[in-house]
Amino acid sequence: MRTSDYQKFEIAESVRIATGGTGIADGHPQFVTLRNLSTSCEADIYLYGATVTAWRRNGSQDLLFLSSRSDLTGNKPIRGGIPIIFPQFGNGPLPAHGFARNNPWNISVTGINSHEAPFVTLELVSSPTTMAIWPHEFIAEYTVTLSETLNCSFKITNTGSSSLSFQFALHTYFAVSNISAVSVHGLIGADYIDKVKENARFRDTDESLSINSETDRVYLSTPNTIGFEDRGDSGVKKTVSIIKSNLSDAVVWNPWETKCASMKDLAPEDYQKFVCVEAGQIDDWITLKPQASWTASQTLEAN
Ligand code: BG6
Repeated sequence: MRTSDYQKFEIAESVRIATGGTGIADGHPQFVTLRNLSTSCEADIYLYGATVTAWRRNGSQDLLFLSSRSDLTGNKPIRGGIPIIFPQFGNGPLPAHGFARNNPWNISVTGINSHEAPFVTLELVSSPTTMAIWPHEFIAEYTVTLSETLNCSFKITNTGSSSLSFQFALHTYFAVSNISAVSVHGLIGADYIDKVKENARFRDTDESLSINSETDRVYLSTPNTIGFEDRGDSGVKKTVSIIKSNLSDAVVWNPWETKCASMKDLAPEDYQKFVCVEAGQIDDWITLKPQASWTASQTLEAN
C-alpha cells in the first residue's frame, strides 16, 4: 500500500496511521492507532499479522503485554498483544499457529460507528504465498472496534471452489502485575488437554486457576465469558473479562521460567508479566463450503 492509498483511512484524531519504522518501506503504513475521544482509550494495530499490540485506557498502563524483545520488523510473529492464529493452532503441516500472524494485512476500511467508537478492518486475501502452503482461496476480514471495551471480530469467507477447514484463536497476552497474583476463572467443569502433561485429558474442578509452573492447557467447550483477576502488587485489583462469540475453546498459557529463558523474543523475567488467555475454535475444526463465511469475536472488558 503506497502513501497516497492509505491517507484516506485517517480520521482526524480518531484513526491515525504510523508509517515507516524498521523493516517497513518509507511512507508505508506500519500500524493504525484508534483513539476513542469519549472514553480516552487507545489501541494500536500492526498491519503485520493484524496484531493488536496495545490497549490503553484513560492514559493508564497498557492492558496488553508486548515483549520489549519482540521483532516488529515483519520477519517474525509479534510476541505479545493479540496475534491471530489461523488456519492452524499449534504445530502441524503449516508454520506454527498458521500464517495469519506472519503475513502483512491491508487496511480495507476505517470509520466511527453509531456509538462513537472508532474501528479499523484489515483484510488478508489468499495469494500465491498462502496458496503455496495452504491451497485454498479465501478472504479474511478482521475488525477492531474501540469503545470502553476492545472488540476483535474475525470473518473468513471461502472464495474458492472446494471446502476448506481451519482452526482459529486470538492469542491474547494480558499484562499482569505479577503472575503469582493472577487467578483465571470461568473454567470450572471444563475438560482440558494438558500440553505440559503429554496431552493428557483432565476436568477442571477448581473455581479458579492459579499459575505457578509452566501452563499450557486447551480447555474445551468453555462458557462464553471467562476471565481473570489480578490482585495487584499494591492492592489495586483488576478484573478482566473475555466475552467470546462462536469460539468454544480457550487456551491458558504461560511458559514459566525455564521455557521463557529459552525464548529469544522474551526477557528471562517476562513470564511473570503476562498470562495468555486465548479464545479459540480448536478442538472442532470449522469446515466452510465454497462461498460460505464464518464469524467469531471476543470483547475484552477491564475493571
Ligand atoms: C500457545 C500454545 O497457544 O502458544 C503453546 O498452546 C505455545 O504450546 C504458545 O508454546 C506460544 O507459541 P509461539 O508459537 O507463539 O511460540
